[in-house]
Amino acid sequence: MTAPATAPDTRPYSPGLEGVVAAESALGLVDGANGRLLYRGYAIGDLVERGTYPAVANLLWTGEWDPAARLPTAPVPEPVLTALRALGPNAKPMDALRTAVSVWGATTTLEWPPTVDDARRLTAFSPSALAAYARIRAGKDPIDPDPSLDLVPGFLYQLNGERADDATARALDAYFIVGAEHGLNASTFAARVITATRSDIASAVCGAIGALKGPLHGGAPSEVVEQIHEMGTPEKAEQWMRDAMARGERLMGFGHRVYRAYDPRAAALRKVAEGMEHKPDWLEAAIAIEDVALKVLAEKSPDRALKTNVEYYAAPVLMGVGLTPDLFPATFALARHAGWTAHVIEQAAANRLIRPDMRYTGEAERPLPR
Ligand code: CMC
Repeated sequence: MTAPATAPDTRPYSPGLEGVVAAESALGLVDGANGRLLYRGYAIGDLVERGTYPAVANLLWTGEWDPAARLPTAPVPEPVLTALRALGPNAKPMDALRTAVSVWGATTTLEWPPTVDDARRLTAFSPSALAAYARIRAGKDPIDPDPSLDLVPGFLYQLNGERADDATARALDAYFIVGAEHGLNASTFAARVITATRSDIASAVCGAIGALKGPLHGGAPSEVVEQIHEMGTPEKAEQWMRDAMARGERLMGFGHRVYRAYDPRAAALRKVAEGMEHKPDWLEAAIAIEDVALKVLAEKSPDRALKTNVEYYAAPVLMGVGLTPDLFPATFALARHAGWTAHVIEQAAANRLIRPDMRYTGEAERPLPR
């Protein structure tokens, strides 16, 4: 006799955990209804105007606002360079970054609980590692950090072999600030789940990079560029969008799980993009295409507000500072290091293993066929 089927499971289930509160955090407030984003109480627009990425990272890690905080990039240890060279030229930069963090974790002493110093070391290491891979795949030698430069100008120097002008470094720094933290998004949740098992900070950031790699999370800005180029002009955009959506495709850079209002990060980056010295020549078209997209999306989903998200204006900023689209997702990952590692520290400080439940939908117990 087999056991009877279990009683129907009537506990609430929220696909994608939408609306489920799965953590408490003092780090970032994502106010989706009102289009506000605060880091430890400070508005993202003010932080972009008056802060630097090192000051914002320090704020997230320590809760203290020190506008003079500095964070130069750190050298890449030899085992990491060996691994990056072994990848060859065709690996995706996100995979190279995840590999670099993994090797860094395997060759660095990391104790439980993770500390602010661990967060600083890892956040300072990753830009050097990504720059090193970008050079290695182009057949060039990696460049050592210049300790007189802060993290973002240091990253650009190690990538390009020359110092960026102030306006360019400032524009990318603004992007890093905007990308630093965003509540319990998929990659941050992944980092907290890994940390909750008392694993180390490098493992948590490896998992977070893996989650960020997907196009529904961090892979969108390069696809924004592709879509804008395919549409060509605002006049052709509307038909292109309708055709794409009829095929079940999505407009990249629009829609958000939390924001029902305009994403405040998109607003901050639009300002940065418009003020850039070296704007991409398609920025004006992108601004006009945005209006068309908002109209088409409002018609398509009248009950679900689909507005511009951060990725739409990340694309022109990243192009404008000279990054190639295949580096966009990994550059987003560098920016998010501050938030991920701050969440790792916060999770560890009030830890509870994260182990949700599941509704079983398979067969009731039955005999194995003879
Ligand atoms: N284009 C067209 N339709 C859309 C879009 C879009 N960009 N976004 C959502 N929808 C529609 C979707 O088709 C669905 O319609 P229906 O109910 O008729 O099937 C409805 O809106 C709800 O969509 P959902 O998939 O339930 O919403 P979600 O909360 O799971 O998705 C999202 C959020 C960001 C994954 C989604 O809006 C999307 O795929 N956007 C395009 C990719 C993108 O820009 N990603 C970057 C996100 S911002 C980065 C970050 O903060 O991490």
